Amino acid sequence: MFITVFGQKGGVAKTCTSVHLAAIWACKHKKVALIDADRNRSATAYGARELLPYPVIPIEAAAKAARGADIVVTDGQASSNEEELKNLVEGSDIIVLPTTPQSRSIELTVEMSTLLKNYRIPFAALLVKVDSRKKSSAEAAVEILQGFDICVLQSQIPLLSAFESAETNGVTVDQSVDKRGRAHSRRMVGWHAYDKACVEIEDLYQQHREKNKTSSPIGWDFTPLEKRVA
Ligand SMILES: Nc1ncnc2c1ncn2[C@@H]1O[C@H](COP(=O)(O)OP(=O)(O)OP(=O)(O)O)[C@@H](O)[C@H]1O
Ligand SMILES: [Mg+2]
Repeated sequence: MFITVFGQKGGVAKTCTSVHLAAIWACKHKKVALIDADRNRSATAYGARELLPYPVIPIEAAAKAARGADIVVTDGQASSNEEELKNLVEGSDIIVLPTTPQSRSIELTVEMSTLLKNYRIPFAALLVKVDSRKKSSAEAAVEILQGFDICVLQSQIPLLSAFESAETNGVTVDQSVDKRGRAHSRRMVGWHAYDKACVEIEDLYQQHREKNKTSSPIGWDFTPLEKRVA
């Protein structure tokens, strides 16, 4: 399964989401590779201490790394170049659009979804950085996105300082410690939210495959010729 995480807005947890989705699947004994397709190479920097349970590979070396992987997660960068976007989308089985409850982020996800609807690749918005004290803004965000016919994952990723500490230390949030070296009390809330998102992404992918049973995600028909003729 090829999952691409992207969006136009900066700082909406694209890299954090890629790192954690990949980590959850790796912890479930899947062979995972994280491809860094962002020119800023943030995923590479995140994984530089080699504490993540999978390799982080620059896009230029992706072909070999993808061979043999069960799941390839790409930390992408949404491009305004139509050809680049087309390649990124068509090279994916499913696309995840991290979106914060802020209006600009919602607007950009709606804009991106309009473009994505031109392809046959399933996509879903994932609400991230959801402040538990402002649940109503997350609810409003879901309503707006769904109003534009956008699939929104039920799992919401909470706003937690544990994510920032985790990134600083090059680990995933479940291993996050504060400045004094004490485990962050809410770190597992963040981990479980990404775990739930992984399950939903797998379901969405399966549903899409069921719907398009005879054709591969990139549109090639692998049905044996005799069956097609019959
Ligand atoms: N759920 C969260 N709660 C709190 N902080 C978070 C959360 N998710 C990510 N962050 C922090 O927000 C910052 C931006 O996250 P990240 O780098 O993943 O965003 P991005 O969309 O990949 O950014 P860019 O556009 O620069 O690639 C980082 O410091 C990260 O640690
Ligand atoms: Mg990034």
